[in-house]
Amino acid sequence: MADIKVYLSEKDIPRKWYNIVPDFANKPKPPITPDGKPMTPDMLAPVFPMNLIEQEASQKRWIDIPEEIIEILYRWRPSPLRRACYLEKYLKTPARIYYKDESLSPPGSHKPNTAVAQAWYNKQFGIKKLTTETGAGQWGSALSFACNLVGLECKVYMVRISYDQKPLRKTMMGIWGGECVPSPSDQTVFGRKVLKDTPDTPGSLGIAISEAIEEAVSDKSGKTRYALGSVLNHVMLHQTIIGLEAKKQLKAAGEKTPDVIIGCAGGGSNFAGLSFPFVYEKINGANITIIPTEPTACPTLTKGPFAYDYGDTACMTPLLAMFTLGHGFVPPPIHAGGLRYHGMAPLVSHAVREGLLEPRAFDQIKCYKAALTWARTEGAICAPETSHAVACAIEEAEKAREEGKEKVILMNYSGHGLLDMGGYKKFLDGELIEYRLPASEVSKSLECLKGLPKINN
Ligand SMILES: Cc1ncc(COP(=O)(O)O)c(C=O)c1O
Repeated sequence: MADIKVYLSEKDIPRKWYNIVPDFANKPKPPITPDGKPMTPDMLAPVFPMNLIEQEASQKRWIDIPEEIIEILYRWRPSPLRRACYLEKYLKTPARIYYKDESLSPPGSHKPNTAVAQAWYNKQFGIKKLTTETGAGQWGSALSFACNLVGLECKVYMVRISYDQKPLRKTMMGIWGGECVPSPSDQTVFGRKVLKDTPDTPGSLGIAISEAIEEAVSDKSGKTRYALGSVLNHVMLHQTIIGLEAKKQLKAAGEKTPDVIIGCAGGGSNFAGLSFPFVYEKINGANITIIPTEPTACPTLTKGPFAYDYGDTACMTPLLAMFTLGHGFVPPPIHAGGLRYHGMAPLVSHAVREGLLEPRAFDQIKCYKAALTWARTEGAICAPETSHAVACAIEEAEKAREEGKEKVILMNYSGHGLLDMGGYKKFLDGELIEYRLPASEVSKSLECLKGLPKINN
């Protein structure tokens, strides 16, 4: 049997993050204000600290990772690259499937890679408290974990449906000192309005983001800021440590550039983190199929238009150029809470428009079946979000078998599902159904884009 784990020594941890922006042939469209003017850094200052705003707008290809951040990351990084030999054998595929195991971080996903960086930069800037949203609870746990380590308070608005489905996530955040409330909540003006208009709403990431931003900007002391777990350029940047490590590890395993790269995409950060260092190679001529995977219940990249839209439901963010289902979209309550977001990272969206990525949507039944196959061969129980990458890896490995091709597949294993038993239980009890968002729902939810500045191609 081939080696199934590739470790890097601590001295080989990447010392710089990779910023893809300068490498695109055509430049991504900038964030704008509702009157169509470019956003200026000072407009973001009440929401983010200036050191992160600078990263958000950076045109530099490489950005140094401060030593103090690296010292925190050593708790679980470099993460192992594993070969899914047991799954390969089960599928009788000639493909070699590798996966970057981000489930080994203390909170259980890739999210702390940016949580630690964001908390650290906020602390440097003199901030005392961070507010945020969370879908499945992975991001809220990661930010609570990071805030505890750097010495900040943390407040998390957790999407109501996930709060009910995964109550132990709140406990986890509490262990690291984070405060978690269900969203919509009665603690913000916007939350109270949503509760009044739709008391039974399952909530959405867009609503939770609005609540968290509202709390941050209404703190008169100026010592509270907001942290976003995905979507923005600086979040993609911090996650590139995953792909940069993977490159070194594939080389150590004697592999060349992979043929297929896969990551699930909610706001786009774990996908971008693994794939962007390889997208660089694709821009420079490599032949790689790079696939962001999403749910058919929230098909942003596969069914949404590319348009200027708000990142949150209350329209508090700048307008971002992205694939979107409309900021008012409340996705069906599927268990992959982290993939229930109406938009997609502008950089991932731009890479799709540049023809560098091939998005694919998967239904939750296919994903749970894939997660079971994974658990019964590889052993680990993946997060429902991650199962969208696993389903695609299995599809690609089967294709390689049919074509008789020895492909190398690289996947991001973004998190474990040990606190997601509710969804697994429903699947095992036969209570879940296939869900594909009907075209009529998509057009209805896109009505909120009317009146917003249009993108001129
Ligand atoms: C385990 C896991 N994977 C993936 C995601 C999706 O987020 P992103 O697209 O930013 O990686 C989440 C979000 O909560 C998550 O918890």
